[in-house]
Amino acid sequence: VVALAQDKRQQRERLAALGAPSPPFQAPVDRGGLLAFAERHGWPIVAKACRGGYDGRGVWVLDGPPAAERLAAQAAAEGVELLVEGWVPIERELAVLVAANPSGQRRTYPLVQTVQQRGICREVLAPAPVPPALAEQARALALEIAAASGVVGILAVELFEAGGRLLVNELAARPHNSGHYSIEGCVASQFENHLRGVLDWPLGRTELVAPAVATVNVLGVEGHDDLSASLPAALAVEGAHVHLYGKRARPGRKLAHVTTVGTEPGEVLARARLAAALLVTPPGEEVKA
Ligand SMILES: Nc1ncnc2c1ncn2[C@@H]1O[C@H](COP(=O)(O)OP(=O)(O)OP(=O)(O)O)[C@@H](O)[C@H]1O
Ligand SMILES: [Mg+2]
Repeated sequence: VVALAQDKRQQRERLAALGAPSPPFQAPVDRGGLLAFAERHGWPIVAKACRGGYDGRGVWVLDGPPAAERLAAQAAAEGVELLVEGWVPIERELAVLVAANPSGQRRTYPLVQTVQQRGICREVLAPAPVPPALAEQARALALEIAAASGVVGILAVELFEAGGRLLVNELAARPHNSGHYSIEGCVASQFENHLRGVLDWPLGRTELVAPAVATVNVLGVEGHDDLSASLPAALAVEGAHVHLYGKRARPGRKLAHVTTVGTEPGEVLARARLAAALLVTPPGEEVKA
């Protein structure tokens, strides 16, 4: 499980062995491998570092031979192992969390939609606004992967929806950013169920406590290093649950998130977005839309 958690090549190989729907891929690849893969599947292609990436670091969309040559040379010089995938025309990104314990109990959290910008998750909407049949497919797929992988605690399964189909993007064998909403949004949070799972205790219930839950991630911005100065303004937003991570601020780094719970998805998301925007606005300044 640790190897699976740390290595995207192992994930792709084991998902392929399971027959889980996935983009075409090849691993490992060098310069020649990237170019040959693009010959077969067309540009763009997506190259990924097999290990060590997060928040879009270690993921490169390559639009032609010069970009592929540059990346291959850099990876070879730094000893970075690469894999390559076909570029997927993603309609929506989705995620399912599975909680599991060694006794074999498994529960899924509701399917969520994740919204990324430049490879970083910005928003999570629960439940995902998809037809029930697609949500059920995602759930069954995630349970199958969890059972085959032998994970205990939380397994996050990141999915792409493209052309009405689901493809598995990647796996994370731990509490995951797509599940932070569950702290306020579900009966038992992903953190609670991670502990229950690894301790082989009975799992808590994973249902939503309200019809709509939204989480908005707060990324560091230039020139505003102290989010706590903006905390009172963010907390003035009705029902905003603010989580500051206490990390050193850096532009683009995930520093906090806000979750809101309610009945109407658009209204719930608007409140979370407002509180998140207030957090990155120095006190007294106008909120940027
Ligand atoms: N094959 C692909 N086709 C199109 N877009 C992709 C593809 N693979 C990844 N992406 C985009 O890049 C994002 C980041 O990719 P991925 O999830 O593999 O990397 P990561 O940086 O390890 O993510 P995380 O922070 O979730 O660990 C995806 O959420 C998606 O938006
Ligand atoms: Mg990812």
